[in-house]
Amino acid sequence: MSALPGSYEGTAVTGLDASPVEPAAPDLPPLTEQTEAEARELMARYPQPRSALLPMLHLVQSVQGYVSPEGVGFCARLLGLTKAEVGAVATFYTMYKRHPTGEHLVSVCTNTLCAVLGGQRIYDAISADLGVGHDQTAADGSVTLEHAECLAACDYAPVVTVDYEFYDQQDVESARALVTALRMGEKPPPTRGAPLTDFRGVSRQLAGFSQHADLAAERAAIDAPSTGEPTLAGVRLAAERGETAPSLQGPEPEAAPEPDVEPAGGPGETASEQAADTAVASADTPAERAGAAQHHPDTPEPAGRQPAERGREGTDTPPTSSGAGQNSSIERET
Ligand code: FES
Repeated sequence: MSALPGSYEGTAVTGLDASPVEPAAPDLPPLTEQTEAEARELMARYPQPRSALLPMLHLVQSVQGYVSPEGVGFCARLLGLTKAEVGAVATFYTMYKRHPTGEHLVSVCTNTLCAVLGGQRIYDAISADLGVGHDQTAADGSVTLEHAECLAACDYAPVVTVDYEFYDQQDVESARALVTALRMGEKPPPTRGAPLTDFRGVSRQLAGFSQHADLAAERAAIDAPSTGEPTLAGVRLAAERGETAPSLQGPEPEAAPEPDVEPAGGPGETASEQAADTAVASADTPAERAGAAQHHPDTPEPAGRQPAERGREGTDTPPTSSGAGQNSSIERET
């Protein structure tokens, strides 16, 4: 999804261009000490705390219903990142919402297979009933509508999800009835998968915490049936015909060639050359040796690559100040 410069979509979270940040609603639940304790718990699950950013953004959504400017600052402060860096991530993924969502998120697949089977008609009908378009919330706060690209359930097309739970093989009338029920406070059971909760609840689940009040409810969600006839049809057909998928086991990989590198400590070597020699000599496997050799200063550069590029790969330091935002998702989107 792309956003026009200065548009609502592109700036609601970060205000990184000249547009004002959308002010938070006065009744927005605060990010509390409990939220911070849970965020720190997420950070402790990873060797690098910044790896916790994605679940932390879901955690923010579970409290506030979207990635608010406060949520961006919250993640940036805890992870030692800039708000621009957090905003770059939050605006890249469509699962992070940039303005307040309703109680439920209704996603209608309008990608190719669903579209030819009626997905676009479903979207248009729901949109007309709710009086909203893509990424907008009904006036009663019950439902946020979005059109989605493939929801990875093409065998059940046309597909609608509510809070990421599947409602398979919909048509216009069944989808309209589903949304009507949601607006009346009902939670129709999904076709398969866990029982429906709400957007904030499933955001908590995506953050890595249980959204359920007790173990029995959690167990029921895990044990809910997850397969359906369309998914099993191909498997059954293959079994009838005695067909199997080819083995993933390929031929034995050829041994990596021995690197053409002088032994460690040769005359006239610099400290970095000696260190590279040691890395090559101490490699345990041919593959490790080849990898170490690839970074050896004596190894010729591949065609088309300039020596100045060596060492840039793999940096975990994003561009800052004058380079901030270059090639970032924000700029791509705008
Ligand atoms: S095209 Fe709709 S789920 Fe794949």
